[in-house]
Amino acid sequence: MRLFLIGYMGSGKSTVGKGLAKALNLSFVDLDAFIEEKYHKTIPEIFASDGEEGFRKAEQKALHEVADFEDVVVATGGGAPCFFDNMEKIKHSGTSLYLNGSPRILAERLLHSKTERPLIKGKTEEELVAFINETLAKRNHWYKQADIIIDFDHDISINEVVAALRSHKQ
Ligand code: S3P
Repeated sequence: MRLFLIGYMGSGKSTVGKGLAKALNLSFVDLDAFIEEKYHKTIPEIFASDGEEGFRKAEQKALHEVADFEDVVVATGGGAPCFFDNMEKIKHSGTSLYLNGSPRILAERLLHSKTERPLIKGKTEEELVAFINETLAKRNHWYKQADIIIDFDHDISINEVVAALRSHKQ
């Protein structure tokens, strides 16, 4: 069994992924953490040295590697499904879940997040909201190809995600 969590920055993929892995007795892989370990560099360092293009290449390689892991929940980076053949790879390798947070909740979480994210660094609240709306409009094309879509405007519980997964299987 292989589950891929996809969705925008701040949608809770890592938190939900960890909880889901525990609930289903699967292992957990955070794709960004996997990239950081593999290259011995943080995500902001990769963006700084190789640009977004270099990061996307590293991300594609890492995704192809973890797509072979067994019995795993993978939390992908927000842009991962939207480049190269990545969404196709995800769909061929397992079940995909899109955590579709409203722009309001995404902006709220990102404004308070301690994680450094090169794409939104230094943006004011107004600029961030505009950026989220603009990029979501493009990214939704990829995100909406997920097998399961969970729309939310609140903190979702693991039980909700497990229930969505079970009803998808029936
Ligand atoms: C990105 C999302 C980040 C990380 C990188 C780029 C994106 O992951 O992969 O900063 O393009 O949306 P999170 O979604 O975990 O923040």
